[in-house]
Amino acid sequence: MKTAITEMFGIEHPIIQGGMHYVGFAEMAAAVSNAGGLGIITGLTQKTPELLANEIARCRDMTDKPFGVNLTFLPTVNAPDYPGYVRAIIEGGVKAVETAGNNPAQVLPFFKEAGVKVIHKCTSVRHALKAQSIGCDSVSVDGFECGGHPGEDDIPNFILLPRAADELEIPFVSSGGMADGRSLMASLAMGADGMNMGTRFIATKEAPVHENVKAAIVAASELDTRLVMRPLRNTERVMTNDAVERLLEKEKALGDDLKFEDIIEEVAGVYPRIMMEGEMDAGAWSCGMVAGLINDIPTCKELIDGIMAEAEEIRQRMNRVSA
Ligand SMILES: Cc1cc2nc3c(=O)[nH]c(=O)nc-3n(C[C@H](O)[C@H](O)[C@H](O)COP(=O)(O)O)c2cc1C
Repeated sequence: MKTAITEMFGIEHPIIQGGMHYVGFAEMAAAVSNAGGLGIITGLTQKTPELLANEIARCRDMTDKPFGVNLTFLPTVNAPDYPGYVRAIIEGGVKAVETAGNNPAQVLPFFKEAGVKVIHKCTSVRHALKAQSIGCDSVSVDGFECGGHPGEDDIPNFILLPRAADELEIPFVSSGGMADGRSLMASLAMGADGMNMGTRFIATKEAPVHENVKAAIVAASELDTRLVMRPLRNTERVMTNDAVERLLEKEKALGDDLKFEDIIEEVAGVYPRIMMEGEMDAGAWSCGMVAGLINDIPTCKELIDGIMAEAEEIRQRMNRVSA
């Protein structure tokens, strides 16, 4: 399938694996890229720019296909060494960057000069238009369903994607709730040029996370996610567990007085324990409602080939129906 997104990133299928903290290691990105999608290494999971450079080199050893790096701009006081990460990406010869979080204007000139294509992840049409106006090459439009940070507008993809299509001139992919060939064809129908998936890619053979994480996603239904940190205007969709229910109790009890320090135990530094050690109740971890559509643990190639085959079946069915 050829779209503006496959052309922009030099990939076979219009499917991107979104950056995921403690999931987007070289093994994950290489598996997705080898299957014809765009794999993404999560920049900030690597503690320093040197470690990111090393991760990029490891990924290059595992694939000769294009892959990207996610650079998330966090609302934090102690900012990571972003210039160092940008250098590691450019010097590592990476040609695709997924930015997320705050406005990436500061880093765009460096990427532009190095010929790196930037796809910015946005949760609203207004942020997507902003990304377009500052020169991003494309955007990933992340609906309310998504795992991770859906923003504060709560607009699901059936509204958000056509709205984005009506307003944007640059190509975009859908993100949030995407799992299969139906998701891909629906995304294309609503004006996107491809789709981004997070949660779906965690439940694959190659995802370098503990088997407990994959099992939890397969076992979960669409009812098993919760929104946390809304009082801090840093809403995150996570899989429910004991820690999350405790966190929500605190939010209820403290109301507007809630501070980050009150919930630090449930959210800070928990990813390595969950993703690497499989301690599923250690804290809050991002997971999309799409868990309800995930019932197996295929290889990335089986997953992507299956999506493309299903998309083709749908195309033929549509042709028959509309004939
Ligand atoms: C476990 C997990 C960790 C994530 N970490 C990040 C991250 O560090 N930076 C980022 O931009 N997005 C992150 N995301 C969001 C994904 O890149 C993607 O936008 C989202 O998962 C799409 O929704 P879906 O899970 O319904 O496919 C994360 C998602 C998950 C599930």
